[in-house]
Amino acid sequence: MGLHVVEHPLVKHKLGLLRSVDTPTNVFRAISKEITRFLMYEVTRDFPLNKKVEKGWAGPVEVDYISGKMATIVPILRAGLGLMEGALDMVPGCKISVVGLYRDEETLEPVEYYVKLAKDISSRVAIILDPMLATGGSLIAAIELLKRNKVKKIYSLNLVCAPEGVQRVLEKFPDVEIYTAALDAGLNEQGYILPGLGDAGDRLFGTK
Ligand code: URA
Repeated sequence: MGLHVVEHPLVKHKLGLLRSVDTPTNVFRAISKEITRFLMYEVTRDFPLNKKVEKGWAGPVEVDYISGKMATIVPILRAGLGLMEGALDMVPGCKISVVGLYRDEETLEPVEYYVKLAKDISSRVAIILDPMLATGGSLIAAIELLKRNKVKKIYSLNLVCAPEGVQRVLEKFPDVEIYTAALDAGLNEQGYILPGLGDAGDRLFGTK
């Protein structure tokens, strides 16, 4: 329950490549996608299965299938889009619910500027995608939005987390499950994660 740091040699190796400031945009994008696949593998570990009988080559065979509606992934604009393909590789049938948030200059609170959710979102598990969980402000806003829309189970998939953000989110929403490749040391005065990856949106989109 709560925070799940996916400890795997391949994930650690790939994250090391992301941390290097010399990693070019195309490689940063490809590796973010690969790590997302590993994190999705863990997020979906408890998805419920049902049984059915298929016509196998040697006669009827009992097989498992994922029961109920597929999840919806929820990329937070803009950087969350960089994790979308990796998530879809693992759960191709899921719907995509997009959330755009910006930070109000005066209140410093996140404001929704674009929201398009799956129609039947209340009967789906939601997997929020955002590379960096820093202060937790955007994630809290996204969770509040999903809860207002009656989503019952919410996961957050983040490449890197800061302890400050994780604590803030889980204090408010202890029922949310956060999956990440790393819990880093903390935030600097500008709200960047240290050692972190820098601005993940800029690195994914090549806008630095
Ligand atoms: N957003 C980023 O892209 N990087 C950080 O370190 C924090 C927030």
